[in-house]
Amino acid sequence: MKQIKLFDPVIDQREVKKVVKTLKSGFWASGSGGGQVHEFEKKFKKFVNSKSCVSVNCGTAALHLAATLCDIKGKEVILPSLSFVSTAHAIMYNGGTPVFVDVDPHTLCIDPVEIKKKISKRTRCIIPVHFGGMPADIKRIKKLSNSNIMIIEDAAHACGSEFNGKKIGSHSDLVCFSFHPVKNLAMPTGGLISINNTNYKKMTDNLKSGRWCGISNRKYTDYDVNKIGWNFYMNEFSAAIGLAQLEKIQKMNNKRKSIAKIYEKELNVSRKIPFTKMCVYHLYWICVKNRKFFRKKLLEKGIETGTHYKPIHQMSLYKKSIKLPITEKIAKEIVTVPIHPNLTQSQIDYIVKIINKFS
Ligand SMILES: Cc1ncc(COP(=O)(O)O)c(C=O)c1O
Repeated sequence: MKQIKLFDPVIDQREVKKVVKTLKSGFWASGSGGGQVHEFEKKFKKFVNSKSCVSVNCGTAALHLAATLCDIKGKEVILPSLSFVSTAHAIMYNGGTPVFVDVDPHTLCIDPVEIKKKISKRTRCIIPVHFGGMPADIKRIKKLSNSNIMIIEDAAHACGSEFNGKKIGSHSDLVCFSFHPVKNLAMPTGGLISINNTNYKKMTDNLKSGRWCGISNRKYTDYDVNKIGWNFYMNEFSAAIGLAQLEKIQKMNNKRKSIAKIYEKELNVSRKIPFTKMCVYHLYWICVKNRKFFRKKLLEKGIETGTHYKPIHQMSLYKKSIKLPITEKIAKEIVTVPIHPNLTQSQIDYIVKIINKFS
């Protein structure tokens, strides 16, 4: 039997045609050539309904650049420890201090009550992560912020998720997406910053210059550089694939939601991600007591699983003598199981049967 993958991008002739067209165009980088990057930004802005969108080459770069706009050097930034390490790296790249807080045990998103306890005079920013695509409570988090505290949402898992009837990407100052191949909207590599701050025009210019070596005031072949920048721009192939993916993101997310609904009803496990239509289920997590045994059995039965994530505060670079009881407990029990749109009904039934047998 063919192994059931944990992640699997959905591709069809749309992607093939766009990639070949880009290949033949000879314009592979960003810029005026094929115009795919610009087109992707335009369409994504419409999709999330934000003030501006700036694409980059990965979610890590999106977080890194977004944090350059928040003046965090020597300041504290509050974030969950249960995330991919890039969430914390973005703070370190910019000379800030990560302050890890615990998560809500039901959603595994950052807990606003815990945030409140950690806010200090040095707090400059809060980075909620929409864990698995489940929207963090940005309304409550916004109430905790003030003119000195900005919000950067880490929406790497949340392309298409909604909060309060509006797409993630349309709420906070800066919202960062990842289009890594495992993500709901897949590219070879890619990321994007969606901006809603009133200062969005200046922020857009800053991010555009930051993503390409600090270049500004470009007029034909002339340009200026008045600050340091990086080589973070999105390439035309990624944007072309992203445009094909954007055409079917709603359909792909709906399939994920329909699988989540089945898992919600059928899986007999002690704890699992709740069901809500606001979530796009990038990850479907469950908790099991004997994780090593469980994962081994599933692998033997042809089902790939994952563990998202080892908490960041337990990594050598970030090791701190802090206690985050919920994060630490969940991290020992969490298992992510396949929920991608390529799953067939018989594979879904099989996954349910095998999980219930060994959990
Ligand atoms: C929560 C979170 N933040 C940031 C990132 C970084 O995105 P990328 O891999 O595109 O750099 C990821 C990627 O896995 C992620 O899961």
